[in-house]
Amino acid sequence: RPRVLSGIQPTSDSFHLGNFLGALQQWVPMQDEFDAYYFIPDLHAITVPQNPKELRKRVLVSAAQLLALGIDPDRSVLFVQSQVPEHVELSWVLTCMTGFGEASRMTQFKDKSAKQGAEHAGVGLFTYPMLMAADILLYRAQKVPVGEDQRQHLELTRDLAQRFNKRYGKTFVVPEPHIVKGTAKIYDLQDPTSKMSKSADTAAGLINLLDDPKVSAKKIKSAVTDNEREIRFDRDTKPGVSNLLTIQSALSGRDIDDLVAGYEGKGYGDLKNDTAEVLTEFVTPLRAKVDEYLSDEAELLRILSNGADRARDVASRTLAQVYDKVGFLPRK
Ligand code: TYM
Repeated sequence: RPRVLSGIQPTSDSFHLGNFLGALQQWVPMQDEFDAYYFIPDLHAITVPQNPKELRKRVLVSAAQLLALGIDPDRSVLFVQSQVPEHVELSWVLTCMTGFGEASRMTQFKDKSAKQGAEHAGVGLFTYPMLMAADILLYRAQKVPVGEDQRQHLELTRDLAQRFNKRYGKTFVVPEPHIVKGTAKIYDLQDPTSKMSKSADTAAGLINLLDDPKVSAKKIKSAVTDNEREIRFDRDTKPGVSNLLTIQSALSGRDIDDLVAGYEGKGYGDLKNDTAEVLTEFVTPLRAKVDEYLSDEAELLRILSNGADRARDVASRTLAQVYDKVGFLPRK
């Protein structure tokens, strides 16, 4: 079976709706078609300062959310990145094959380092994309389901795979991003031309899956729209309305055209109420399941350590080939 791999950072107490609709919603059905590897990149998380206690808790909450969303440890390999040391080992080789200028062009690095002030930004932010390339190439993944904001990192990963293959002989699979057009970028409810992100200036535009559904419903009802009255999909002139339609459509499984037709003669209040309702229906049982997984920490740790063992089986074989090709002496 072809292989799929993806990851989500444990940098918050809850995944947000953009994470879910842009990426995680694809992960679950892909378990049936692919040999699936899903992981929590805690090594990526420390590219910005993290509180140790909080990080530990957030890794567990992340795992519980993935399980609650339907990632099944019997059908996919679910693991934590730091428990598979091969990620760091391969990332060094890839870092040494990446141009300084090439890495400097990564827009996520430019944005994040600008936010911290260039002098204070950690070097880990700069080498982040090569660690991400290692994550993917170690497993020879064909498909990587992500949101639009990861496209450039995937392109770098492809370039590095091809560069290595050309220099040392065919070793890596050149992966393809799996980006679902309609939901690849979910926007901030208060600023619907910027992507929904936990680092936005205000939390009012961000829907966290684990927040109280009443709070989230309120945020939907206060979403910024426009001065017209007509409900139709147009990202350029009606970004707020289009974002709500996207969210409702993705959560309910109904097409946007179908939704729009149903809103003829109705107002933005109806659109917001219905969107808040489908969201509430989605998050209410999810929160209960997450609590259930979190209530048995020993079981969670067991699932993750079992996942790490299975991941290492694959990762260590790829790394051994890479080290041999690069000219390192065999280990042991
Ligand atoms: P992260 O943790 O920031 O986000 C997890 C996933 O959510 C997607 N996403 C969005 N999709 C649509 N609309 C949004 N507003 C939105 N915000 C976030 C992201 O595109 C991502 O798919 N570098 C990665 C983690 C990573 C990884 C990997 C992913 C590390 N190694 C290997 C794939 C393969 C990241 O920071 O995602």
